Amino acid sequence: MIAPSILSADFARLAEEAAAVGGADWLHVDVMDGHFVPNLTIGLPVVEALLRATDIPVDCHLMIDDPDRWAPGYADAGAHNVTVHVEAARDPVKIAKDLRAAGAKAGLSVKPGTPLEPYLELLDHYDTLLVMSVEPGFGGQEFIPEVLDKVRTAKRHELDVLVEIDGGINAETIVQAAEAGVDCFVAGSAVYGADDPARAVERLRALAAARKTGES
Ligand code: DX5
Ligand code: ZN
Repeated sequence: MIAPSILSADFARLAEEAAAVGGADWLHVDVMDGHFVPNLTIGLPVVEALLRATDIPVDCHLMIDDPDRWAPGYADAGAHNVTVHVEAARDPVKIAKDLRAAGAKAGLSVKPGTPLEPYLELLDHYDTLLVMSVEPGFGGQEFIPEVLDKVRTAKRHELDVLVEIDGGINAETIVQAAEAGVDCFVAGSAVYGADDPARAVERLRALAAARKTGES
């Protein structure tokens, strides 16, 4: 699965930018609050408008403090998957229950320096695991290959979660990530920085599919 990140799109033309990646599996939306990360993007009103403007399932990545309070609103609005950071969550089990009760998939994310082992049992409550492969906050950063160990750990424990990776994914790094077992690849600059974003999505998908463990 390929999830283009609109962080690298033109925020004045979000509906058109979503349409430009019509073949994408999910549309990745980075919500940043200027506290959990040193950057500020968009919040619920803009996500609601985007949800009205696209049929692509919306994947909300909440890089915010107090996700216990704010995350369910994104699920209520109709987001397909809502991911919170384990470093910010007070009661991650309750968050997952709230998200699922509102009809969304529940996602848990770990920053590059956050180990996965302490959270393996917690992931029983979640549908997706988002492994950050850059420090969250900005697009266009360099991929940190060491985080792939967490992908391998998740796969080794046969966790019943979709494993997503986010940060620095391009035509080169997607190959290593696919080999490690990643299921869903977020790509911002590699998609929206391309002349033809739809073609970039297809190219990334083909590269990942060719290298996915056991498929080639
Ligand atoms: C970074 C965001 C990413 C970002 C990825 O904090 O979570 O989703 O858009 O951008 P690229 O693909 O350019 O690294
Ligand atoms: Zn993201």
